[in-house]
Amino acid sequence: MYSGLLHAHSGLRWLALILLLAAVFVSMQKRSGQAGYTDGDRKLYLFTLISVHTQLLIGLVLFFISPKVDFGMMSDKLYRFYTAEHSLGMLIAIALITVGYSKHKRQTNSAAKHKAVFTFYAIGLLVILASIPWPFRIPGAGWF
Ligand code: HEM
Repeated sequence: MYSGLLHAHSGLRWLALILLLAAVFVSMQKRSGQAGYTDGDRKLYLFTLISVHTQLLIGLVLFFISPKVDFGMMSDKLYRFYTAEHSLGMLIAIALITVGYSKHKRQTNSAAKHKAVFTFYAIGLLVILASIPWPFRIPGAGWF
């Protein structure tokens, strides 16, 4: 189960990143409000939220079963990364994206909807990019 979840969590990063990039790009383009708010925009913002929530669920399970999560080994860079930096960074990013999604739902005009998504999803994307265990940064991490 551990290996299957790890592969799913690692591969799904690309789907989450592609959707986040698309959502940030579309919301940036449309934040003046002139292009309106379409059903396609709503679906893109929703699927982006679902993709990071799926990562959250798998990540939470990994947190309890991974040999790389150990509060007693925090002096070691690799353990500290997965136990604290990666998990906390991702929790913050996913919370920001969730706030952005619910704020955009509550707005009534198109400009305010896109602006809420743009602000929160863009910051979330930056935090995610900084918290991913990229192979050039973290020993043993893969690309997929
Ligand atoms: C959008 C959010 C997230 C992304 C893109 C992401 C991405 C990744 C990636 C690429 C890996 C490395 C897999 C590999 O070694 O090949 C990983 C590992 C891990 N992630 Fe996440 N993650 C996210 C959220 C979370 C959250 C919220 C948690 C926990 C609360 C979490 C816990 C872990 C743990 C414990 C590992 C290490 C598993 C191991 O190697 O034993 N992740 N994550």
